[in-house]
Amino acid sequence: MTQGPYRVDGRTARVWASDAMAGLARRLGRDPLQRLRSITDCSVWDSTRRPDREALRAALVGQDALLCVLTDQIDAAVMETARGLRVISSISVGVDHIDLDAATQRGIIVTNTPGVLVETTAELAIALLLTVTRRVVEADADVRRGHWTPEARWQIDGYLGKDLAGSTLGLVGLGAIGQAVAARAQAFGLRVLGWSRSGRKVPGVERVSLDRVLAEADFVSLHLASTDETRGLMDASALQSMKPGAILINTARGDLVDELALVDALSAGHLSGAGLDVFAQEPLSQGHPLLTLPSVVLTPHIGSATEGTRIRMVDLAVANLEAALSGQNPLHCANPDVFSR
Ligand code: DGY
Repeated sequence: MTQGPYRVDGRTARVWASDAMAGLARRLGRDPLQRLRSITDCSVWDSTRRPDREALRAALVGQDALLCVLTDQIDAAVMETARGLRVISSISVGVDHIDLDAATQRGIIVTNTPGVLVETTAELAIALLLTVTRRVVEADADVRRGHWTPEARWQIDGYLGKDLAGSTLGLVGLGAIGQAVAARAQAFGLRVLGWSRSGRKVPGVERVSLDRVLAEADFVSLHLASTDETRGLMDASALQSMKPGAILINTARGDLVDELALVDALSAGHLSGAGLDVFAQEPLSQGHPLLTLPSVVLTPHIGSATEGTRIRMVDLAVANLEAALSGQNPLHCANPDVFSR
C-alpha cells in the first residue's frame, strides 16, 4: 500500500499506538511504526508500564484509530470514551481482549493478525511437548544445582520420559496452528487425532469426536480461540476423561482450561504433565499452585515470540489499519458484521 497520509474530517487521521516498541526497534535497527507515523498523526504510549484502563480511556479521546496489543482490555466503557474511534487494529490473532459486539454496534472495525504466527506458535507447542515428555527443565535444573554427581553419572532409570514416536497426539482445534502442529507431529512419528468444531478435514489427521481425542491421546494440544463456547472447555470432567498419564499442552488461551482442576488432575497423578504458555490470569501470580508442580513446564505467553514473527505481526496490523482508514477491506477483520451495518 503506497497511499496516505489518511484524512478524517479534513485533517490527518489520528492514531494512538499502545506500545512504543522500543525493544523491537533496537533489535531491528529501525522503527516498526515508521510507516504508521508517515501516514497518520501517530502518538504512542511511551512507557515500559502497560497503560491501565484509565490511561487507555484518556489516550483514546480524539483518536480515529488504535493500534493495540493483547494486554489492552478494550471494552465497551473504553470505547465509550473514544467517541471518534473507527478502527481497532490488534497486533494479535486472538481478539478476546476486545468487546467485538460493542465495537460492531459502534461501527468500529476490529482487525487482527492471523497467519503470520502459525509456524512460530506451532514450534512452541512442539517445544513444550518435547520439554515435558523428556523432562528437560528438571534435568537442566539438576545439572545446575550440582545434582549430576559421579554416582549419578548415567543411571539406567534416570529421567525416564515418554517417546513421541509411536504415541498419539490429540489436537483440539484444527485451524492453521493446529494443522501446523499436526505436520510437525507426523514428522516425529506420532499418530494424530483431531477434533474441531467446524468438522474440518486435515490430511494425516484422523478426525474423531472430542471424547475420543481426550480418551485416546497420550498428549493433547489445544488450538482454539477463547470464546463463549470454548471458555472452560477443559474442565474437571474433560480432564478426568483424558487418558491416564496423558500430558496437556496449551499455547492457545489460558481460560480454555480450569487451572485448579488441572492442578488436581496432576497432583492426583491422573495426568503426568503439562506444558503451558497461557494462563487464565496473566502474569501467573506468584502463589499459583501450578508453580509447585515439577511435572509442569511454564512459559510466559511466548508463542509468537520470534523477531521475524513479531515484526510480521506489526506490519500486518499496520496494513490492516491503513486499509480500514482508506475505506478498503482490511486483510483480516475480526468483526465483519460491521460492514453490513
Ligand atoms: C495472539 O496473537 O493472540 C497470540 O496469543 C500472541 O502470542
